[in-house]
Amino acid sequence: MSDLVTISNRDGVAVITLQNPPVNGLGFAVRSGLQAAFDSAATDDAVRALVITGSGRMFCGGADIREFGQTPPAGTPHLPSLFDAIEALDKPVVAAIHGVALGGGCELALGCHVRLAAPGTRVGLPEVTLGILPGAGGTQRMPRLIGVPAALDLIVSGKMVPASKALTLGIIDEVVEGDVDVVEAAVALARQMADENRPVRRASALDDKIAEARGKPEIFEQFKKKMARRARGFEAPYACVACIEAAVTQPFAEGLATERATFQRLVASDQSKAQRHAFFAERQVAKIPDVPKDTPTLPIDTAAVIGCGTMGGGIAMNFANAGIPVTVFEVSQEAINKGLGIITKNYAATVSKGRLSQEAMDTRLGLISTTVNYEDLGNADVVIEAVFEEMGLKKKIFGTLDTVCKPDAILASNTSTLDVDEIASATSRPEKVIGTHFFSPANVMKLMENVRGAQSSPQTIATIMKLSKTIGKIGVLVGVCDGFVGNRMLYAYRRQADFLLEEGALPQQIDKVLYDFGMPMGPYAMGDLAGLDVGWLIRKEQAATRPKHLRYSTVADRICELGRFGQKTGAGWHRYEAGNRTPIPDPEIEQLIVSISEAQGIPRREVTDQEILERCMYPLVNEGAKILEEGLAMRPSDIDIVWIYGYGFPRYRGGPMFWADLIGVKQIYDVMSRLHDEHGDWLEPAPLLRRLAEQGKGFGDL
Ligand code: CAA
Repeated sequence: MSDLVTISNRDGVAVITLQNPPVNGLGFAVRSGLQAAFDSAATDDAVRALVITGSGRMFCGGADIREFGQTPPAGTPHLPSLFDAIEALDKPVVAAIHGVALGGGCELALGCHVRLAAPGTRVGLPEVTLGILPGAGGTQRMPRLIGVPAALDLIVSGKMVPASKALTLGIIDEVVEGDVDVVEAAVALARQMADENRPVRRASALDDKIAEARGKPEIFEQFKKKMARRARGFEAPYACVACIEAAVTQPFAEGLATERATFQRLVASDQSKAQRHAFFAERQVAKIPDVPKDTPTLPIDTAAVIGCGTMGGGIAMNFANAGIPVTVFEVSQEAINKGLGIITKNYAATVSKGRLSQEAMDTRLGLISTTVNYEDLGNADVVIEAVFEEMGLKKKIFGTLDTVCKPDAILASNTSTLDVDEIASATSRPEKVIGTHFFSPANVMKLMENVRGAQSSPQTIATIMKLSKTIGKIGVLVGVCDGFVGNRMLYAYRRQADFLLEEGALPQQIDKVLYDFGMPMGPYAMGDLAGLDVGWLIRKEQAATRPKHLRYSTVADRICELGRFGQKTGAGWHRYEAGNRTPIPDPEIEQLIVSISEAQGIPRREVTDQEILERCMYPLVNEGAKILEEGLAMRPSDIDIVWIYGYGFPRYRGGPMFWADLIGVKQIYDVMSRLHDEHGDWLEPAPLLRRLAEQGKGFGDL
């Protein structure tokens, strides 16, 4: 028998165990091993019943995602036919589940006749998050077991459910309580079923639950309407719905064939490739070559935040949400009251939506204390400064923190642009200083750009990367430069958008192109939401040092001069009706832009949607290439994670660098070269882009 799947005979019950750490993935070799073990047990007269289980941390994490798109070795069984054979067996087959049963792992369990789970088990069909659908019978067996509405929720969300809920839904048959080992319980049950000659229950043969949805296509139409906003641009959620509908309208074998054909189509799609890339990129991002996994970290049991404005308040909420007591410092009681008021309002909104209990809200608020004295921060394990972006102010604060905080404390800055090394120079512990750039709203957005200074120690880096995870964020380690990874790339994109306005486009056209591309909003709607005044102030400060030979668009400044700061003033790039956040194109802005073009002597022309996409997105990729070459991001996939989690770059495009590979780096280089000839310096192709194009390679080859 294969090492990856073992079989042991326990007095007439064959126990088949998946042994493929870390997640017992159903790769080609495991499938062959499982088939061989199953065949042997099925045909062995001494075996009266079977138990299927997994060794180590879990039952099974599903198909081996790395093997998608590869041709299996000859003779490798397909999972659907293997699970069909398991289900068709007349001897009872019991799944003994612990840890997780996900994707193909869950489908394996659905093919068994009975499912027992250990407490703490979670099950789910997360395939949709990989741009595919459950391709081994999941879309057909699950609705038969739990009904159509629950199956739609489960399969289209891709979410895992805990054992208790899986039991209520009918995915599993029993949660084994107390000290009883789930495999022992499964063996006992399997033996009893054989002894009693109990007929087996096959999910494929059930009909009562799906019968409830038969002749009611409106169930599916309504569900598609409900999911439309979240699923915008994604193919897989719609394919999941179609296959669940097939479970209702087609006989089992036909439904399975529909599922198979749809799975094959999706697995070969660019969307699925992109979403699989994002899955691995998310795991890769935590790996830092010079900070090994076993680097000792400092415990973070208490935290402090300097500043209780929008960012500081959101950051404090992250700690409280994770159960970590946090002290918030502000200069005055008045500022504290204002900040705490906003935090309370935020929590209350979540409670009113039913997503948080009042009790949990009270516990979280109870974890937030406030002070106007720096001395009260002496015990904090980590301090995150979140004040206005001004170097002098930040250095002063870090100097003070250095004197009041315990020597071991990590001092972090939530700067979005400033030099972390200069901030660190204000302390006697530069090795304990690091940047932690949160994205707004900080309690919601999952990205943290962790900015390593020249002297940040491996321990500081490892501790902050771990902290990101503890507070539910994805930490991406980046280097020091203006705007770090995300905002530096954003500048490159925004700059070209503004130039396009001067050349003939309008804000609503640019917004639409980028929204249709899959961004949550276009750049101008986004600017109006975030507020235009802060950027304007920064630009005014930088005016004296701006290189005069480089093109500069004044449109944004002129809009601010009119007192239009975005949604909060009822007008910005667009205008807004009171109480409504929908941007409305504004003829006044069109006139302003046309007058600026005239004054600059730029003849207005028709700008196509394709040009907008290329002119905005290719420079963004180009800037990413520069960042990689300068060593400020460790790998292209880290940049993809920054953009997916910090800016809502569509996951089904895999992030800007993966998307660039799909387009072809050579194509992007050629267009950039032409744009550079036409529009000058800002668009010079990055040397790395040129090199990859010349070598016929992509970012994925780095
Ligand atoms: N295939 C290949 N590799 C996988 C994998 C899978 N299904 N699941 C996890 N891995 C890898 C990870 O990439 C990681 O590798 P590295 O150590 O090299 O980075 C390693 O296994 C451990 O994974 P995690 O770090 O994620 O471990 P965890 O304990 O935090 O989480 C898990 C475990 C919940 C199973 C999580 O890994 C997970 O969600 N995996 C994906 C589950 C999934 O989507 N399954 C569906 C697969 S598609 C399918 O099954 C199609 C079908 O219908 C037949």
